[in-house]
Amino acid sequence: MSLSFEGKVVLVTGAGGGLGREYALAFAARGASVVVNDLGADTKGGGKSSAAADKVVEEIRAKGGKAVANYDSVEDGEKLIQTALDTFGRIDIVVNNAGILRDRSFARTSDLDWDLIQRIHLRGSFLVTRAAWNHMKNQKFGRIIMTASAAGIYGNFGQANYSAAKLGMLGLANTLAIEGRKYNIYCNTIAPVAGSRLTETVMPPDLVASLKPEYVAPLVLWLCHEQCQENGGLFEAGAGWIGKLRWERSQGRTVRQKNNPVTPEAVRDQWDRICDFTNATKPANVQESLQSVVSVLSQVESESEAGAIPTAAAASVAPGAGIDPTQAVGQKLPATSFSFTQTQCILYALGVGMSTKDPDHLRFLYEGHPDFSCLPTFGVIPSQSSMMGGGLSSVPGLNIDFTQVLHGEQYLELYKPLPTSGTLTSESAIADVLDKGSGAVILLDVNTYSGGELVCYNQFSVFVVGAGGFGGRRSSEKAKAPLPPPKRAPDAVVIDSTTRDQAALYRLSGDWNPLHIDPSFAALGGFKSPILHGLCSFGFAGRHVLKQFANNDPSRFKAIKVRFAKPVIPGQSLQTEMWKEGNRIHMQCKVKETGAVVLAGAYVDLHETAEASPQSPAQGGGLQSELVFAEIGRRIKDSGSELVKKVNAVFGWEITKDGKRAAQWTIDLKNGSGSVHKGPYSGKVDVTFTVSDEDFMEVVMGKLVPQKAFFAGKLKVKGNVMLSQKLEVILKDYAKL
Ligand code: NAI
Repeated sequence: MSLSFEGKVVLVTGAGGGLGREYALAFAARGASVVVNDLGADTKGGGKSSAAADKVVEEIRAKGGKAVANYDSVEDGEKLIQTALDTFGRIDIVVNNAGILRDRSFARTSDLDWDLIQRIHLRGSFLVTRAAWNHMKNQKFGRIIMTASAAGIYGNFGQANYSAAKLGMLGLANTLAIEGRKYNIYCNTIAPVAGSRLTETVMPPDLVASLKPEYVAPLVLWLCHEQCQENGGLFEAGAGWIGKLRWERSQGRTVRQKNNPVTPEAVRDQWDRICDFTNATKPANVQESLQSVVSVLSQVESESEAGAIPTAAAASVAPGAGIDPTQAVGQKLPATSFSFTQTQCILYALGVGMSTKDPDHLRFLYEGHPDFSCLPTFGVIPSQSSMMGGGLSSVPGLNIDFTQVLHGEQYLELYKPLPTSGTLTSESAIADVLDKGSGAVILLDVNTYSGGELVCYNQFSVFVVGAGGFGGRRSSEKAKAPLPPPKRAPDAVVIDSTTRDQAALYRLSGDWNPLHIDPSFAALGGFKSPILHGLCSFGFAGRHVLKQFANNDPSRFKAIKVRFAKPVIPGQSLQTEMWKEGNRIHMQCKVKETGAVVLAGAYVDLHETAEASPQSPAQGGGLQSELVFAEIGRRIKDSGSELVKKVNAVFGWEITKDGKRAAQWTIDLKNGSGSVHKGPYSGKVDVTFTVSDEDFMEVVMGKLVPQKAFFAGKLKVKGNVMLSQKLEVILKDYAKL
């Protein structure tokens, strides 16, 4: 079907000759009502005549078309549109075409040369288009053409003023395309080449004759037709050829590292790579353009592995040959240290959704609880700082775009229950680098120590989009692989809601990436709203298994593995499905509302049973407090009845060592003539004190006042707190021990 403009009203500015005239004739020939505008000026903007527009109107009418002349300057934008409204009752299409030239070498460009060109081309197009805008908006249809020029796109000697105005029109069009889209107002830009009076001074005569304006007009007509959905495009056209232009951008380099200034030297050293168009991207809008910038920003800000100033070794790798496993594997990252108190443990527990609503959660939320513990999945927190410290970027042979890094999988293994405070150090090394075709997988092994003792091991598996194809292996025996769940229905399902502020709370545990809180950051990353941290869902799932299959006993938690499959939006509910296979609990975590699997191939390994755990309370050998309780036992034998009269209470003791319960004692100064028991007590205990072996000794030696110990969180009291005042009576004589 041929393209008709029946019923459409078109304004073509500068239509008295050249390209504009061709457009006007072509629109009219296809049924449009045309406003033929032309000031009738000379090519430099001087003079004024109605003849040019009249002639074109006559030509149209002679062929039976509908046209009206308008002789105003485009600087009177309203008047042009008014002619359309007065004559034809509407305005559908505006072709901004009018133009003049005042070519001068830059040094000789006068104010007038500059101003006139800006006024006619850029400001004129603005004024005419603005006058038409609301009419188009109200009728939910509009097509606008801006006429740019190769001089603006590429520059041209002697046309500084004109180049600036012409590319200004492209900028105007880019934004009109965005603002108009929802009203079906589309705006496109053309850079034509045609023989006209404007070009006859610069082109040889036969070229002027052969580059006919009629070869350009069909592009303008198509772009202005209601069938055409093109919006915000830029086209070059001439001699019957039409091409589309777009921006291209190099992969670029990040030359910044957290807490380090960006230096001109870093820019200089990276210059070839900044300017290298291998694997160039083609951002089509501000969002796409900002995406990589923002992901660098967020990574640098969150102290993650943003592509920092590369080492000399990394910089020597040729572009495109970014990954060299032979260099990278085995490389150690700088060791990191992590100091924490009970506050971090509690904050983390809240971050992964624990609540006082569940009495079982209290042991993870209240430092005064006799079994106060740190959640096992907290084990990722001390080690994540080694991942995020920018360490990866300094590894030779890992020459990658750190904006493309995704956290793919996580494995955590605990060798002993985590302490609830202290300083842990982490040592990391590149375990392997795999080539997955579409990307690379980096396996980072992190061992975390308390003093010299290994507490836990993490394997971070990070996926680098677009970094594959370096000829590496696809799999590795070092990878802790995810495992599919059994095919039967799950043995247990726990549904738990995350709150709207879940990510806001979780990030306080150290992952400050704005992606998880700032809606604009999230939008730039392509998400509708901020997303929950993958390691937060990991914490939810881990504690679901802990409660369901290990009675919330952290000492039974051996290891956990997950693959991050999809993001979770804070406020959604997590549904953890669990399958017990011996000591391995397979699991899968879904968003309840959508059914989307968010943690896949996941499992938790548990230790046999609590009794078999190496930290069983029955043990407790090697504790200094043993001696004290033994001595208290002897004293009670000697003068128990006296003490029973004075004290009249049963005291329970939980002695901890390295954050774990190591021994239980009961001092009974209520029944009979008093006694001391080791192990769980069968009778009623009035008050229970939980204290580390070391702090117990400090108290006994008189170095630490019990009250102070209590407020410092070193001594926890459960039961009748008032009875703690009687502690001194029991302990006071033991300072000499
Ligand atoms: P042209 O000189 O034949 O047409 C321009 C028309 O605009 C003239 O009829 C002139 O009287 C009119 N005009 C000037 N000032 C005006 C004003 N203030 N108000 C109303 N009308 C006014 O030139 P041509 O080649 O047809 O150019 C059309 C457009 O295409 C211009 O914007 C020009 O810059 C652009 N262009 C042309 C190229 C070519 O190869 N011909 C190359 C790149 C851009």
